[in-house]
Amino acid sequence: MVLAQEATEAEGLSALLVAPSADLVWLAGYEPPPLERLTCLVVRPGRDPVLLVPELERPRAADSPVGKRMETTVWRDGEDPYEALARLLPGEGRFGASDQMWAVHLLGAQRMRPHAEFVPASAVMARLRSVKDPSELELLSRAARGADEAFRKLVDTRLEGLREEEVAVLLGSLLRETGHEEVSFTVVASGPNGASPHHEPGGRAIRAGDPVVLDFGGRVGRYCSDISRTVCVGHAPKGFEEVYDVVREAQEEAFRAVRPGVTGREVDAVAREVIERAGYGERFIHRTGHGIGLEAHESPYISPENEEPLRAGMCFSIEPGIYMEGRFGVRIEDIVAVIETGANRLNRADRDLLTIA
Ligand code: CO
Repeated sequence: MVLAQEATEAEGLSALLVAPSADLVWLAGYEPPPLERLTCLVVRPGRDPVLLVPELERPRAADSPVGKRMETTVWRDGEDPYEALARLLPGEGRFGASDQMWAVHLLGAQRMRPHAEFVPASAVMARLRSVKDPSELELLSRAARGADEAFRKLVDTRLEGLREEEVAVLLGSLLRETGHEEVSFTVVASGPNGASPHHEPGGRAIRAGDPVVLDFGGRVGRYCSDISRTVCVGHAPKGFEEVYDVVREAQEEAFRAVRPGVTGREVDAVAREVIERAGYGERFIHRTGHGIGLEAHESPYISPENEEPLRAGMCFSIEPGIYMEGRFGVRIEDIVAVIETGANRLNRADRDLLTIA
């Protein structure tokens, strides 16, 4: 919290307004649901932070780590929560509002400070959250190992004849078996469906000759896993293996490019270059990766617009893909952690092309 106060001041903000979100979990260990009733942590330079909660949420706040460490103030149904918030805010200046604060609450806060400037709190929070401490790295590693294990168990199963949605359910139970407390997403995209990166698993039955893109993740100790592998059920269709090798090389080269001081843009360019050289540049339709932590997608982004140098402790995905419309897709994704000498892969599942039953 002291770090957040210092960062708020360094950013020239007179207060940070933190709504229920991963920011609040990270700062205060408190995870209430986002509601129409205002909950807001107010961080101010040089003053103690205050958590403003609706009265009926007070027992839950008091039970959380935050309630034991931090001043809590309540507003009651019938009162104007934004007036209660205004009593905690400096008179003017620039305020950071969490990226995930509901518009209704931000508009309420703006009504109280019509002359203040409001900016996204990510200017402060992304910098704090993107470098993981050892306990966060441990949870991300555990989550990654669980996802690896779920993948290994899945490819021991006969997939031919199963519908995508059945494989998705199976992946969900394997994630829970391997230590995940929550399943966040299970993409199972067979044959031509693989050309849609976020395909929703449906009724298509997997048949021999289908490449299948699997992209799934959940949470371990609130920290996220996210892995993609592309496998082939039976004989690969024409042209598939060539595309697979290109994606694999792009993933490998991008991984090798990671070290402190290199930017997300440079790592993205390495993957893109491999794919462009092979003639598939137009088929790589997304950025190379995204940070991961309390959220499945967070800073730093491994994308052409990220000019921030990477730092040791940052964790993100490297997940180039090639999408051949009407035919198939290939994506290979690992979570990696930046270390002083380069990067560590947190996912260790095999990246060789697996042909399964
Ligand atoms: Co991902």
